[in-house]
Amino acid sequence: MKPTVTVLPGDGIGPEVTAAALSVLQACLPVEVREGLIGGAAIDATGDPLPPATLALLEHSQAVFLGAVGGPKWDGGPVRPEQGLLRLRRAMGVFANLRPARFLGLPVPLREGLARHANLLVVRELSSGVYFGEPRGISATEAVNTWRQTADEVRRVAHVAFQQARKRRKLVTSVDKANVLEASVLWRRVVTEVAREYPQVTLEHRYVDAAAFEVLRSPQHFDVIVTDNLFGDILSDELAAVAGSIGVLPSASLGPGPGLYEPVHGAAPDIAGRGIANPTGALLSVALMLDHTFSRPDMARAVEGAVLATLREVRTPDIGGTGTTAQFTHAVHRHLAWSRWTEVGEEPQPAADWGV
Ligand code: NAD
Ligand code: IPM
Ligand code: MN
Repeated sequence: MKPTVTVLPGDGIGPEVTAAALSVLQACLPVEVREGLIGGAAIDATGDPLPPATLALLEHSQAVFLGAVGGPKWDGGPVRPEQGLLRLRRAMGVFANLRPARFLGLPVPLREGLARHANLLVVRELSSGVYFGEPRGISATEAVNTWRQTADEVRRVAHVAFQQARKRRKLVTSVDKANVLEASVLWRRVVTEVAREYPQVTLEHRYVDAAAFEVLRSPQHFDVIVTDNLFGDILSDELAAVAGSIGVLPSASLGPGPGLYEPVHGAAPDIAGRGIANPTGALLSVALMLDHTFSRPDMARAVEGAVLATLREVRTPDIGGTGTTAQFTHAVHRHLAWSRWTEVGEEPQPAADWGV
């Protein structure tokens, strides 16, 4: 039986990059696709950014792919599209958000010599911290949020970070604000405890303000960065400066059940509907799905190779070119077909009907 993948295109450029991602996934693996509503599109159709029908799709899915949610259309409304995404992550129990960033040969606003050796993985805690803490609320004169974290929540994400580091350069940098926040004091304590179980991995600590500077000054220093939900959100966007554009960063959100795969970027309302969104982050998220959900590293490397080859030929405007999403995606299919032809002896298929 074919595995089932739930696809949630969302808002803005979400549907544009999702079409690209889905076409490449289907070229790699026969999957049953179910499409659902999330975010602003779901609010428009049902009033709810994560309707029960979408949650029901998760029951029989091996993986979920999400485009992006949000946009000015829903600003000031009774409920924000982003709530749908946060509730989805919670409902799926995904607590470790893997956000890799490396030099892709694109122009970057850093000294190229440094960026060239950059290959980082942010492991972001995704289920706790100030994003979810209670009490929270707002009145005309006051607003409250609560930064709450349990030792178990820190421990399980720390294990993911050390396990990843073991497969990489064996350095974990834990990022916190332990000079100010109790939640960070606990964070640092627990990460230090977990480190004892991984003697082959080196652990270092940074305050988030210093880390924000150092990832740009010396990106080549870092291997795995493990950090809280809010700090991870901010630091991972910063890594666009290492990779070349926010549009090229992928992510995988993992927990005990199905994985959630989404590009790091948002709905990009400023370019939505123009067919010029960079699908690289979405396509590399498909590679992460092939690795983490389907245990097909061969396919994952083929997708990455095809995307890297395409980046040398077709560039969307965010990375200095005039290419379109469809041109980029067609080129990826061409490279994928070529790599299969040379490795497996399959005839390349014509680059016609990938629906993008
Ligand atoms: P954004 O990532 O949507 O856009 C920031 C800038 O990067 C914009 O100039 C945009 O055009 C550009 N950009 C982003 N992705 C691109 C791509 N694939 N190709 C080319 N250019 C790209 O961030 P924002 O403007 O702060 O947020 C817009 C909306 O998206 C907000 O509602 C926000 O809450 C939401 N958002 C959603 C997600 C998500 O669904 N995972 C992530 C971040 C932001
Ligand atoms: C991201 C986004 C989300 C987050 C928003 C849209 C809720 O910025 O995935 O990086 O803050 O986690
Ligand atoms: Mn973000």
